Amino acid sequence: MSKIKVMPEQLSNRIAAGEVIERPASVVKELVENAIDAGAKRIRIEIERAGSRLICVSDDGSGMDADDALLCLEPHGTSKLFTEKEIDHITTLGFRGEALPSIASVSRFTVTTRTADSPEGVSVKVEGGKFLGSTPAAGAIGTTMLVRDLFYNTPARRKFLRSPATESHHIEEMVIAMALPRWEVGFELRLDGRQAFNSPGASTPAARIREFFGKQFAENMWPVDHVENNMHITGFIAAPGFTRNSRHEQRTFVNRRPIEAPAIYRGLKEGYATLTDAGRYAPAILFIEMPPEDVDVNVHPAKREVRFKYDYSVSRAVTAAVNNALKRSRESSPAALREPSLPITGRVPLDKILDTMQVHYTPKDTEQGEFELTPVIRNATLPKTVPEPVFTPPEPPEELPPGDPAYAIAQEEPPVAETEPETEKEEVPEVDFSERFNFKAAPYTGGWPTEILGILDNTYILAAGPQGLIMIDQHAAHERIMFEKLLEQAQKGAAAQPLLLPQMVELPRSHMGLMLKYRHIFEKLGFDVEPMGNTSLMINALPLDLKVSRPLSEVFPDMLQELLENSENKIPVDGAYVARAACRSAIKAHETLPPEGAAELLRQLGECQQGTLCPHGRPTLININYNEIEKRFGRR
Ligand SMILES: Nc1ncnc2c1ncn2[C@@H]1O[C@H](COP(=O)(O)OP(=O)(O)O)[C@@H](O)[C@H]1O
Ligand SMILES: [Mg+2]
Repeated sequence: MSKIKVMPEQLSNRIAAGEVIERPASVVKELVENAIDAGAKRIRIEIERAGSRLICVSDDGSGMDADDALLCLEPHGTSKLFTEKEIDHITTLGFRGEALPSIASVSRFTVTTRTADSPEGVSVKVEGGKFLGSTPAAGAIGTTMLVRDLFYNTPARRKFLRSPATESHHIEEMVIAMALPRWEVGFELRLDGRQAFNSPGASTPAARIREFFGKQFAENMWPVDHVENNMHITGFIAAPGFTRNSRHEQRTFVNRRPIEAPAIYRGLKEGYATLTDAGRYAPAILFIEMPPEDVDVNVHPAKREVRFKYDYSVSRAVTAAVNNALKRSRESSPAALREPSLPITGRVPLDKILDTMQVHYTPKDTEQGEFELTPVIRNATLPKTVPEPVFTPPEPPEELPPGDPAYAIAQEEPPVAETEPETEKEEVPEVDFSERFNFKAAPYTGGWPTEILGILDNTYILAAGPQGLIMIDQHAAHERIMFEKLLEQAQKGAAAQPLLLPQMVELPRSHMGLMLKYRHIFEKLGFDVEPMGNTSLMINALPLDLKVSRPLSEVFPDMLQELLENSENKIPVDGAYVARAACRSAIKAHETLPPEGAAELLRQLGECQQGTLCPHGRPTLININYNEIEKRFGRR
């Protein structure tokens, strides 16, 4: 029996209107939402050329009968919302009935679907919004949505797309955001035949969080479980001191929907109060459940924003949740997401060993096997390195299994031959170390410091100058000095400083992708790094002039996040920008500097080509001249 109805105009007029298909990631979002709403237990997403050639989402959910397979393509055709009364308590992810017709109007679209009580499925084809036909189709129960050549008929929108790397990154982030709150559903993502991840469904989110963000991240997170005013808040928050330079890793969900809401961010900030420095953010993965009538999801067409009925009580509940979690964390010790430890006796499978050594690598069948752990190994701290032969390049793309709904379609329409010209291929940039941070700011005219008076808040050096009081931002000055040294050295040929002990850091996949792509730039600066699987990076050496005063496990994510945000804004990832990001993340705020240190800092700053500005363009020193001082004291 068909389930979809086209909603009456009166109802459709009350739905937040607007285009939702901005980029390939939005298509992925809508299709994954539909699969989840259809009760899928496993969702497989296949992407080619950052989604501009192919987006294929297959699920094992309810499927649709032949009538619905047609109706789902009608504007405002939905099985999720029929009356105005229901708008106030929507429990499905979708309800607008707009996604599929929008997608089908800007692509070559095929839906293949089968319900449990139908012996065969149906396949419907639409091209640029034009119905091409419907045929019976073989296939498993569930639905496969195939979107080819997105925006082929809207060149303006196609042109608007960012680089394939950026669009792929958006897709990956989108799938991660959808998969986190649905840990019971298996998610597989393949990008151009490479498996980005294959995360099975589980009864808790722990394994998925470890898989997506790495073990180090997981081990720094504390569990949250708090009930207040009809709200239940669960998830994980960072241990005090574990921070990032952007809000990017504060992932928040309301009724299992990824949401960006100021009220929640405020709650987090207040929960940590003075535990996080200004400009730093404590990572969090928070799942907030509340009655559907307390949250309006019909605000934004892409449903990224919501409106809470009681904004303040949401903030307050989040603050309390954070406070309680932090308090509990002080009372007990091991973090919640920690992996069960290595068994002490017996034969241990290779993947378990790799995992314990924080190596994220899936062994091939031929490499699998168990190893007898001798007492020596058992009692010693496990070495951070692993015999070399284990690391081989990623496996070649798998074939689709015949049972997979995508299989039939792949058979029917063989993918375009690989010889097709790669028009979207990205160039690997040349390394450029020419300094490009000579900002045109108003020149500093306060004169150079003559005598150091003291240090304020471990941050500002106070000095006497020829025209009054000079305040030097220690952090910014440091950054400028290090930055210029780093570039100067890199131009001569990078000097690397090997680490006494190579160190492993865990990185989110997106950071690893960036690191690998631009590895040659990092190497030119003096970094020596080695990927160890999907989320682990071995650091062997750092640039000689990079004086790192924070743990590498924070320096690398911060540096890569800054570069990621740069590339989003079309700022190139090149030598100078990498150096700038590295300097910023290496330096610790509020570092106590001895008086000789302050003097030396000023001396070096004076030798800089542009000592009055930090590499990010902020002043390194400001002058408060005698005029100003006298005015403030009413002497004039
Ligand atoms: N993967 C799927 N499995 C089963 N039914 C689906 C699937 N995708 C879409 N549908 C059906 O198509 C309808 C229209 O989908 P869509 O245009 O995304 O609108 P909405 O999700 O807002 O209802 C849905 O209401 C649902 O009945
Ligand atoms: Mg939908």
